Parts: sequence; C-alpha cells; structure tokens
Amino acid sequence: MVGGVSRVSRAVRGLRWLRGGARVAADRALGTGSFPFSMTFILTHRCNFRCAYCDIPAAAGPEMTTTQFKGALDELASIGLVRASFSGGEVLLRPDALPIVAHARSLGLMTSLNCNAWLAGPRLDELARVLDLLVISLDGPERDHDRLRRRGSYRRAIEVLRGARARGLPTATISVLTPSNLHVVDEVLALADELGFYAYFQPAYESCFDLGKGVDPSLGGRLFVRLADTLRAARRQGRRVAASPGYLERLARGPRFGDCARCTAGRYWGTVLPDGRLVPCHLQAERGGAEPWPSGVEKGFAAAFRALDRPKGGPGCAISPYQETDLIFGFDSGAIAAALRRLRRDEGSP
Ligand SMILES: C[S@@+](CC[C@H](N)C(=O)[O-])C[C@H]1O[C@@H](n2cnc3c(N)ncnc32)[C@H](O)[C@@H]1O
Ligand code: SF4
Repeated sequence: MVGGVSRVSRAVRGLRWLRGGARVAADRALGTGSFPFSMTFILTHRCNFRCAYCDIPAAAGPEMTTTQFKGALDELASIGLVRASFSGGEVLLRPDALPIVAHARSLGLMTSLNCNAWLAGPRLDELARVLDLLVISLDGPERDHDRLRRRGSYRRAIEVLRGARARGLPTATISVLTPSNLHVVDEVLALADELGFYAYFQPAYESCFDLGKGVDPSLGGRLFVRLADTLRAARRQGRRVAASPGYLERLARGPRFGDCARCTAGRYWGTVLPDGRLVPCHLQAERGGAEPWPSGVEKGFAAAFRALDRPKGGPGCAISPYQETDLIFGFDSGAIAAALRRLRRDEGSP
C-alpha cells in the first residue's frame, strides 16, 4: 500500500511537471507570462563547515520562521511552482528543515535538497520519504575532500550516499574544482559507478554572492576546455556524469560561459534567501548600489517574483544546477534527458 501511495504521489508530481512545462512553452511562444516553475529555498546561511572556497557562512543573518517558509511555498505553489529545492548554508542545521520539505511535498511539488552530509545520516529515512533527489558535496577522495571541507566529512558523505541508495533515494554529488583538486574527476566518477550517483563538477567562484568577482583566477583559461573534454569522454563511456552536453559546451567557453541577459533566471526560476528576499540566482545577490531585491515578506512572494529584474548582462556562469535549469527552460533535449536520468529510482525502490 505504501508503494501504491508513493506511486500515486509521484504521478501527481509528474502531472504538475507536465502542466508547468506546457505553461513555459506557451510563454516562450506567445508571451503568456512568466511564473516560478522552480525555486531554491535557502533556509539559512549558517553552516557547521568552513570550506576553503565558500563565503556563505560569513553572510549568516536573519531567517524566516517555519510558518513564513511554508507560507512562501503555499503562495508560490498557487501561481504554478513545480519544483522546490532546499539548500544553505547547511540546511539541516534548522530543526524545521524536513517539516518544511515535507510541506512542499504535500503540495505536490518535486523536491531536492543539497547538504554537506554531516547531519544527514540519522535522518535518511525521513529524507527518503520527502525527497526526489538528495545532492551531497563531494570534493574528491578522502584526502582532498577532508582538506577542503572538514575532517571526517568524507566518511559521512560516503555513508549518506550508501544509505540513500539502500533506500532507493536518487543522489547526485557536486565537486567544486579549485586549483588544488583538479585531479579528482576520475576518482569521483569511480565512486559514482560504485555508489550509483550522478556527479556534477564545477569551477570554484571567488564569491557565492557576487558574479562580478568571477571564477577563481588561478583556474587558468585552458582548464575549461580540458575539463569539458574530459567529461564528454567520460559521458561517451557511459560514466555517471550529471552534466548534459549543453552544459559542457557552455563550460568549454569559460571563463565567459554565456550571457546572463539570455538566462531564464528570474523568469521561470529563482531563489528565496533566508530573510525572504528573492533573487534570480545566488550569484546575483550582491547588487552594489542598486535597489534592494524584493522581499516576499514585505510584498508577498508572488508579487516579489514578478518584481524581480532579470540580469541585464554578465558572463553567464558555470554553476551546474543553474545552467542545467536554464538549458531545460530552453527545451534543450539533452538537458531534459539528463534531468530525467538523474531522477530515476533504482529498480525495486519504494
Ligand atoms: C552553498 S552549498 C550549500 C549546501 C551545503 N552546505 C553543501 O556544502 O553541500 C551548495 C553548493 O555550492 C558549492 N559552493 C560553495 N562555495 C562555492 C564557490 N565558491 N564556488 C562554487 N561552488 C561553491 C558547495 O560546494 C555546494 O556543492
Ligand atoms: S560549501 Fe556548504 S558546507 Fe561548505 S561552508 Fe559553504 S555552505 Fe558550508
């Protein structure tokens, strides 16, 4: 019976996804109006790690309450939200993180959550009940991962990836590449084969909030072509590369990956910051002297989404989940196929 209920609820999410897709197609063809198909909810900027390349914990500040986050989900779902992803900081530092995700699921939304795995082990049963995809950071084998992230964190990441697999919960990893761990791609892909996850790789940015600072300058220009070629070859060999061919094409153009003015951020997807402000994407959060981003707490979340200015220009980005999302909204068939593959549950899973 539980399996039957979960199949019905998966079908409900699938239908919502199809309806949302039709609405995006109508807007692209006829200008019928943009809407938030997919939103990332950053529940907190607090973190129990201090990863070498990350400036998020230093930005910790006011956070919305449980009721406010649930209200944001209700409001955005009422205007067409299909997919909610949850991230941080370390999202599981909030004791209400899983009740908030469960609320999203009760609204018929597809759900994913990114975390550093430290606190996830004891909550795997609950995570498997409320998520379509669990994304874990994995910056290489133990020596590299623990040096960049936190001692002991590799072991927990692997335990969580194994535990999720045992429960039939699809997983992906993100490996942020810095000058000191560029060599890890092959070892991460070997783990992906062993543990059944899809692996994203992306260059480290100077700041998570300020696209203008760009990618780590010591990642030389030739790296992008080389990395894209390595991942294309791995894809051809059937290895578990999360990226679509379209992302790899953009990656190879780095350090100018595209054009932010053409990106669908703020049109069909966006981010809710912990304090309730909306931004098209996290990398646009710093606005210098410009008008502050609209607050869902002050304006309501539907109005705040409609008030989002779209980026007027910029070099594009290599943040893999953002670029995959943008490609999907451009109806890139390779990106859609890659997304469906990442969400596939193993045979016989609940
Ligand atoms: C901000 S974290 C939040 C989730 C969780 N704390 C974690 O580490 O997985 C989301 C992803 O952003 C990545 N990230 C953090 N700082 C970055 C940077 N400077 N450039 C690129 N990616 C970064 C992290 O490694 C992680 O995979
Ligand atoms: S990457 Fe994630 S785990 Fe590391 S400090 Fe940033 S938010 Fe925390």
